[in-house]
Amino acid sequence: MGTPARQGAPVTLTIDGFEVTVPEGTSVMRAAAEIGISVPKLCASDNLEAFGSCRLCAVEIEGRRGTPASCTTPVAPGMVVDTQSQKVRKIRKGVMELYISDHPLDCLTCAANGDCELQDMAGAVGLRDVRYKAPDQGGLANHFEARNTSGEANPEWLPKDDSNPYFTYDPSKCIVCNRCVRACEEVQGTFALTISGRGFDSRVSAGGVGDDFLASDCVSCGACVQACPTATLQEKSVIEMGTPDRSVVTTCAYCGVGCSFKAE
Ligand code: FES
Repeated sequence: MGTPARQGAPVTLTIDGFEVTVPEGTSVMRAAAEIGISVPKLCASDNLEAFGSCRLCAVEIEGRRGTPASCTTPVAPGMVVDTQSQKVRKIRKGVMELYISDHPLDCLTCAANGDCELQDMAGAVGLRDVRYKAPDQGGLANHFEARNTSGEANPEWLPKDDSNPYFTYDPSKCIVCNRCVRACEEVQGTFALTISGRGFDSRVSAGGVGDDFLASDCVSCGACVQACPTATLQEKSVIEMGTPDRSVVTTCAYCGVGCSFKAE
């Protein structure tokens, strides 16, 4: 969650009117979590270095201009932070609205329904309405049509990559948070994934033959699937059988991922 906890000198600051003391170098987001304040986030996760790409965790800090990302902003003595000002709530809602406008709205039939951070965060920021048309309603459709070179007639979303035996990759659901890329690098040390393209064309790429996962350097460790906050990367077993009721976490000695084996 933002910058990992540090061992530095104690720093006292105020967040939403509550005083908190944390080690120097701690992120504002983690300091807030220490006192039970949960700042909306998408690109930050507990076991990855802070990245600061989604902008959902914006906060206001007294005496500072703009709305910095709380996951990448270190605490400072005497800092006064507001995580719930009208300004940041409006920014978060706007950011989330843009994410959703570029995302398939098939939640009810999606295997990740109920276990999707994008869905959770849309609720957390109070998004009820999207003013922009979805790609399959003519909004960004031109963008997707222009990218398709397979000759298919009027495709609504980018095709899925089912080449890996254990998981699927659905680029239409990617929010380019970079968590999978960072998990591949930081957790597994494989460097199999990257972000290719720019702007609306940016997406995760495995860089294999035909750009598919099977032909890439991916070792199927599952770190990327665990890190994904949407249904972009999903276990095939979950798609086929649903999310198990309970899980048993084991530590596999083969790699550093710590795979979780789920059983009913
Ligand atoms: Fe801070 Fe994404 S969670 S920028």
